[in-house]
Amino acid sequence: MKKVSDKFKLSNGYEIPCVGFGTWQINGDETAKNAAINAIKAGYRHIDTAAVYGNEIGVGEAVKNCGIKREELFITSKVWNTMRGYENTLVAFDESIEKLGLEYLDLYLIHWPASKNRFKNWEEINFETWQALVKLYKEGRVRAIGVSNFLPHHLEALMDMEIKPMVNQIEFHPGKMQEEVLSFCRENNILVEAWSPLGRGAVLDNEILKDIAEKYKKSVAQICIKWCLQNGVVPLPKSVTPERVKENADVFDFEISADDMKIINEMPFCGGSPLHPDSIDF
Ligand code: A2P
Repeated sequence: MKKVSDKFKLSNGYEIPCVGFGTWQINGDETAKNAAINAIKAGYRHIDTAAVYGNEIGVGEAVKNCGIKREELFITSKVWNTMRGYENTLVAFDESIEKLGLEYLDLYLIHWPASKNRFKNWEEINFETWQALVKLYKEGRVRAIGVSNFLPHHLEALMDMEIKPMVNQIEFHPGKMQEEVLSFCRENNILVEAWSPLGRGAVLDNEILKDIAEKYKKSVAQICIKWCLQNGVVPLPKSVTPERVKENADVFDFEISADDMKIINEMPFCGGSPLHPDSIDF
């Protein structure tokens, strides 16, 4: 990979730019529009949104007004938890597409699994939601489909399906690598995407990371992003600050050594979200 628009290949052959621009907590359509246009100007070609972020209209405006052809952009959205199930998911997809003002999505994800702890019929709910994504995929309304925040037991339940998830977007940053999920995904050819690759900014003060960053003459944010890429994971850093958006894309002129990768891989939790897919209450 030499730039943020260089691509990984998904299991179905569709290509995905290796760094995406995250829009979680970019509130308001105008702010989202400006942030996404700024990211596209900085070279990003991959924007990650979700129905629950409340900024799909802004992201869609950015796609329309950025001056880059639609086919050159990779746009992801996600079905929210209140819209799980077959019929609801189809409705949710239509709503997202309409807000975005797009004919198709590049990637559509189930935002969170129905969890084992909260739903007796969690497998059935996830299965039905997945069936809706498969229908949208077969109709060509979305180029790739996947899940988010799925743990191995949630994924396992979908592994007999004719069409399997191509992506799993999870919280992934130094101190929260989720090795079991990562291994499961690697073994099953599911590309992992990292939400909050900077641990929501919380890992940026970590001393181990600061020392490594200094050694490579890079920022801690750049180390986190490069560490994702060297693990074969697509980072989705979020920033509304233009200089940071650029900085987060400037990660292709150095390589983290195997020894330093190991140090980061083995770091204990040092900030990020406390959320666990089996105990969330939303
Ligand atoms: P802001 O949007 O105000 O620029 P994550 O992607 O892990 O969720 O982290 C997002 C947080 O990290 C946001 O608060 C964002 O702030 C901040 N951030 C993003 N990029 C950088 C950077 N290069 N340096 C410092 N903070 C950053």
